[in-house]
Amino acid sequence: MYQFFTDLVAAKRAEPADDLVSALVTARDAGDSLDDRELLAMLFLLLVAGHETTTNLIASGTLALLESPAELARLRDDWSLLPGAVEELLRYANPLNHATDRFTLEPVEIGGVTIPAREWVLCVTSSANHDPARFADADRLDIGRDASGHVAFGHGIHYCLGAPLARLEGEIAFRALLTRFPGLSLAVPASSLRWRPSSLIHGLEALPVRLS
Ligand code: HEM
Repeated sequence: MYQFFTDLVAAKRAEPADDLVSALVTARDAGDSLDDRELLAMLFLLLVAGHETTTNLIASGTLALLESPAELARLRDDWSLLPGAVEELLRYANPLNHATDRFTLEPVEIGGVTIPAREWVLCVTSSANHDPARFADADRLDIGRDASGHVAFGHGIHYCLGAPLARLEGEIAFRALLTRFPGLSLAVPASSLRWRPSSLIHGLEALPVRLS
């Protein structure tokens, strides 16, 4: 990946085109610009944060809908439910299991437990999104529920920069897939699907489907 991005940056520097990498290579802010290390870091971030996540929202979300035929039929009958359905699929499917690392600066009390200062903390957002104290019948997909307050995009100062784009991509992908292929179905038993062995990424290794 390092070599791939290094070559890509060199190519775009030599011949800028109308694309994101060229825009980053030529970006200038008050006379400052991104150096090569900053550029590579940004490209890694955009690929992992911007691509892996949305890919998994689409695949895991499609699986969730195929496994809940009543919810799928409800959506196909009334596309005005789509934005809410995407929120619910973000909550339900959780493309990321947890946020990036956090460290306590001082002792923090939460749920009756005190985390000492200078401890490493992993915030498991997928668990929070299935918290029955926050979402009634939390393990059920309900595209009509108010899923606001989910933390699939994190929370606070590092809230996902790409959230509006990810929502838009989800809306476009689900609508296109489900309208173009009315007979879409799983091509293998759901029990044979394998999830990737990653603590951070929550996604399928593959989602074999029949289009008609
Ligand atoms: C369904 C899709 C997505 C999900 C579930 C998702 C999830 C997240 C989460 C949970 C965080 C917070 C991490 C933390 O607090 O430690 C985050 C941050 C971020 N996301 Fe996304 N993301 C998605 C799509 C995207 C897209 C499409 C882009 C860009 C094209 C993007 C760019 C970023 C960036 C740059 C940050 C860091 C923000 C910061 O630290 O200030 N994400 N994302």
